[in-house]
Amino acid sequence: MPRDVDHSIAMCSLPYRILEDAHLPELQSDSSNCVVEIGSERGEGSTAYLRDWAAGRGMDFHTVDVTDTAQTHFANDPAFGGVGRINFHIVDAGHAWCRDTLPGLGRRIAVLYLDNFDWIWAGSEDKPGDQEQIADYARRGVVMNNENSQEEHRLQTLYCLPCMAAQSIIIIDDTFPDRRSPTGWSGKCGTAMPLILAAGYTVAAREMVRTRRLVCCRGVKLK
Ligand SMILES: C[S@@+](CC[C@H](N)C(=O)[O-])C[C@H]1O[C@@H](n2cnc3c(N)ncnc32)[C@H](O)[C@@H]1O
Repeated sequence: MPRDVDHSIAMCSLPYRILEDAHLPELQSDSSNCVVEIGSERGEGSTAYLRDWAAGRGMDFHTVDVTDTAQTHFANDPAFGGVGRINFHIVDAGHAWCRDTLPGLGRRIAVLYLDNFDWIWAGSEDKPGDQEQIADYARRGVVMNNENSQEEHRLQTLYCLPCMAAQSIIIIDDTFPDRRSPTGWSGKCGTAMPLILAAGYTVAAREMVRTRRLVCCRGVKLK
C-alpha cells in the first residue's frame, strides 16, 4: 500500500459525493475558484452533481469531453435538469484544453474530477462493450488502449496542476494502488499519481482498492 494515504476516510459509491458538506467543512469556495470535470457524464450523474455543487458555491463549472453527447442530453432532455451554468467544452483531447484554454480562464481549480479516456480492464478486451468503445475511439482516429489512457490523464494532470488552488481536491476514477507498477499505481491515473503526490496532495480513501476511486486533497482535510 502506498504511503501518503489517509485511511480514515471511507469512499462513497460515487466518488464526487465526497464533496458533500459533511465531509468537507473547510474547503474555501468563492468566485475566483472553479470546478473542472474532464469526461462528462453518460447519464450517471456526475455532471449534474458538479453543476449544482459549483452553482451552490458561486463557482464556474467546466466539463470537457471529446463528444457532445452530454451537452445534447442536458440541452434536450429535461431529465438532466437543464444546462444551468455548465460550460461545455467539446475538444479533440482533454489535455489540449487544459494546456491551451484553462490558463486563460483566470480561475483556480478547487475541484478537479478526472474520469475520461476509457480504461480496458484485464479480461474484458473481447467483450462487445469494449469492442464498441474501441471502434468509437478509432472513428475519432484514436487508439483506445491503456497506455494512451494513462498518457492522456498524465498530460491533463501536468497542465492542470499549475492552475489548482492551494486548497483543492482531485477526484479520480478507475485508479488503484498496484505494487507491480513502477509508479505504485495503475489504472487511468497510474502515471499521473506521482505528479499529484509531488504537488503536495495526499490520498484520502479507505476503500480505494475495492472501489478503484481516489480522492486527493491538498490544504483541506476531509471528515
Ligand atoms: C467514463 S465516461 C465519464 C463518466 C463521468 N465522469 C461520470 O462519473 O459519470 C468517460 C468520458 O470521457 C470521454 N473522453 C474520452 N477520451 C477523452 C479525452 N481524451 N479527453 C476528454 N474526454 C475524453 C468520453 O467521451 C466519455 O464521455
